[in-house]
Amino acid sequence: DKKLHQDHLEAHELLSKFFHHLLMNTNEGQKSLEYMMQRGFSEEQLKSFRIGWALPSWDFTSELLKKRGFDLSSMEQAGLVIKRDDGSYFDRFRGRIMFPVENDRGQVVAFSGRIIEKTSDEPKYLNSPETPLFQKNKVLFNYHKARGAIRREQSVVLFEGFADVISSNEHVPNGIATMGTSLSNQHIGMIKRLTNQVIICYDGDQAGIEAAFKAVRETAASGLEVKVAILPSKLDPDDYIQKNGSQKFRQEIIDSSVSIMAFKMHYFRSKINLSTEDGRLHYINSVLKEIAVLPGAVEKELYIKQLSGETNLSIAALSEQLSSITPREN
Ligand code: GTP
Ligand code: MN
Ligand code: MN
Ligand code: MN
Ligand code: MN
Repeated sequence: DKKLHQDHLEAHELLSKFFHHLLMNTNEGQKSLEYMMQRGFSEEQLKSFRIGWALPSWDFTSELLKKRGFDLSSMEQAGLVIKRDDGSYFDRFRGRIMFPVENDRGQVVAFSGRIIEKTSDEPKYLNSPETPLFQKNKVLFNYHKARGAIRREQSVVLFEGFADVISSNEHVPNGIATMGTSLSNQHIGMIKRLTNQVIICYDGDQAGIEAAFKAVRETAASGLEVKVAILPSKLDPDDYIQKNGSQKFRQEIIDSSVSIMAFKMHYFRSKINLSTEDGRLHYINSVLKEIAVLPGAVEKELYIKQLSGETNLSIAALSEQLSSITPREN
């Protein structure tokens, strides 16, 4: 109901401020602040995304909420505290760098907390659970802040991690990310409300390429115009920016994004061992199958030429092979 909803929003707002203060201005937050600085996040970025620090305590958050008059059973529903068997409550987020997650109206509805040091089997990121305020398949990180830039640039850049959104924000203000889930129909609907063009910019590792392949299929099927920004194989956008700066990232990666077909060729090359004859044949056939379903003759010829240049095979041989392929249903 309305009162509960308002309660949950207020608690998230209060905690964002508190966590941010702890990170920026206290001794307890100093080590975490140093970690963020050393990762290349500027004070400006930390402020504008209200990044914070949750103390490594079992009851700091719950005591604070209680003192401010919040009912802890309501706070449990909000995902902020967890109930013990004896009926007492403890903090969900302990000893983590806190990233507030906003809904499409700019209200904080969830948190994601990152550990600084990888220990035992703690997850790297801990997210708020699904709550009345927060459904992962309806929330895109930075969507509210980015909407002006998305409209202005008439495109949106979709990242895999929200750390990438923050790092790139200075030169790529139209960046958004899912909260670690794959793209939902609701996410796609949110994008289409603002623009018809999406640039997919996922991590350069194999998992990122696979996820991008899937995201390309889903966004293209929904009628969006899709391009893909390709990263060097061991880097994610944030790594690339740390090495090369965000201006170079904008120019060399985002503004150099490629067509779906060029990305698919990159995708096949990433999976297939081209040093064997078998692999090369497999690669050629995979690409030809994709060329076969292209709608236009000019497009077909363009990529046949590119494949020919890449493989040293004649255009005639590739075209003949292509004509023997029946386009499959996508
Ligand atoms: P950094 O290591 O801080 O640079 O993070 P990243 O942005 O590079 O994250 P990564 O590529 O590992 O993962 C992409 C996204 O998946 C993150 O933004 C999270 O939303 C999600 N994710 C990653 N690790 C975890 C995890 O341990 N648990 C959950 N729930 N989500 C995760
Ligand atoms: Mn990744
Ligand atoms: Mn990453
Ligand atoms: Mn990263
Ligand atoms: Mn990194």
